[in-house]
Amino acid sequence: MRRAAEERLGQNDSEFLQYGAKQGDGNFRQALAEFLSRSYGFPAGPDSLFITSGASMGLHLICTLFTRPGDTIFVEEPTYFFALQIFADHTLKLVPIRTDENGLRIDSLEEELATSRPKFLYIIPTFQNPTGHSLSQERRERLVTLSRQHNFLLVADEVYHLLNYSGQPPKPLAAETEAGNVISLGSFSKILAPGLRLGWIQANPEDIQRFINSGLLNSGGGMNPFTSAIVCRVLETGGLDQNIAKLIATYRDRLTVMDSALRRYLPGVEYTLPRGGYFFWIHLPNGINATELQHRAETFKVGFRPGTLFSCQGGLQDYIRLCYVFYEADELEQGILRLKQSLDLMEY
Ligand SMILES: Cc1ncc(COP(=O)(O)O)c(C=O)c1O
Repeated sequence: MRRAAEERLGQNDSEFLQYGAKQGDGNFRQALAEFLSRSYGFPAGPDSLFITSGASMGLHLICTLFTRPGDTIFVEEPTYFFALQIFADHTLKLVPIRTDENGLRIDSLEEELATSRPKFLYIIPTFQNPTGHSLSQERRERLVTLSRQHNFLLVADEVYHLLNYSGQPPKPLAAETEAGNVISLGSFSKILAPGLRLGWIQANPEDIQRFINSGLLNSGGGMNPFTSAIVCRVLETGGLDQNIAKLIATYRDRLTVMDSALRRYLPGVEYTLPRGGYFFWIHLPNGINATELQHRAETFKVGFRPGTLFSCQGGLQDYIRLCYVFYEADELEQGILRLKQSLDLMEY
């Protein structure tokens, strides 16, 4: 980042200090399109991209432009808890759709579609937050078909897609934006740095135009032109590819450490080994209440997110989400040991 900033600030061009182009700087979108074409494995053009100040802002803008208070949307059960808060900010009515190790369950979606039509379905198709699961290829195809048949939008939050530690995940839903009603959210938060507040929306030309025409963009211009100019340099010099390769190597090791610590200290818990992303989603034995466990764990100075936070209906009380990417191996070991000590104090 330092090198990219020095190089960019050394150029005799201060355009990025002006209000930016509403869709996002053209050079930056071009560099991002090249990066995405390479990493996602299908061609993406700069015109299909709209620069945001992160996936959260993208989601907020979609709610603002595509929904009215009281509208129904579908969400995965469980789903990213701050997305639930964004939906609450827009007073949307949420319908939970069940999920399993292969992601969203199509039978559950079909059941709900029999009685209501959502404005959109919010989905995290790859390395989901909080479960780490990915939607299978077969379900992706069914989902896209259903969204066209029933005429609702798919909002795919794909911020973990490139953090893949074994094998190749299915193509992102971003691959479907050209053909129809899919909007994909991307972000630099998980692959470069969240403090940049920089991300993108990938969508068809009409939807892109809708974002460009919003009052927010008319008033403030394109998002973060200054940061975009520096990150553009990172993209042009291959710095992002290098960083992702480093993250994957580091996180893959941490995942292995977390997995073996869980198996050593907590043989009674159930989980599917994640293949990418940030999280383990753990089912506690004997209906242990995760919020009570959290209180015990605080005394051991170890933290996690209780499952109920990710439920739009107050369920999943015997699940916890563990994040392994931020810590060194010895801290992960210590954390799982302390979790075991907290669990030992619970009566089950
Ligand atoms: C699924 C999901 N979407 C969005 C975000 C936030 O992304 P951003 O920092 O780009 O707003 C997160 C961060 O945890 C996330 O897990």
